[in-house]
Amino acid sequence: MIERTFVMLKPDAVQRGLMGDIVARLERKGYKPVAMKLMHIPRELAERHYGEHKGKSFFMGLIDYITSGPVLVMVWEGENVVADMRAMMGKTNPKDALPGTIRGDFAQQTGRNIIHGSDSVESAKREIALFFNDYELQSWKLTSEPWLFE
Ligand code: RTP
Ligand code: MG
Repeated sequence: MIERTFVMLKPDAVQRGLMGDIVARLERKGYKPVAMKLMHIPRELAERHYGEHKGKSFFMGLIDYITSGPVLVMVWEGENVVADMRAMMGKTNPKDALPGTIRGDFAQQTGRNIIHGSDSVESAKREIALFFNDYELQSWKLTSEPWLFE
């Protein structure tokens, strides 16, 4: 099933110069970029995005972290991309993330785990609508499609 997912490279990924490496991995996998922008998330939007964690001990720290500098927000399209992106990212705590995953290769602590990806198709729809207008989402044909899908 072709799906879309929302991905955010967090402020630490931007500051550490990891955007290119991470985008390159997603391109090499054959996923199609549908939207991308660098933005400084307003606090109110960060709190809505992470609304499921409101009230938890790490919530304020998480909002401070995510609003501490520019992030790269993106939408990527591909087969089973929601679950498979989570697998490419690795576990939430980089200590548990396997080598070869993005968090496993580039991060050391949960509070600085460099990337967010939607955890379900429903979350992806909600998050894409929070961060992008319809006119920012590109529908286009990837010429490599016959080499990715039989
Ligand atoms: P994300 O939403 O950012 O993709 O991460 P996730 O699904 O893997 O993990 P989630 O449970 O949704 O947690 C969201 C983010 O909150 C921070 N966090 N800190 N200190 C802590 O115990 C703690 N737990 C979570 C992390 O930045 C995590 O990615
Ligand atoms: Mg999450």
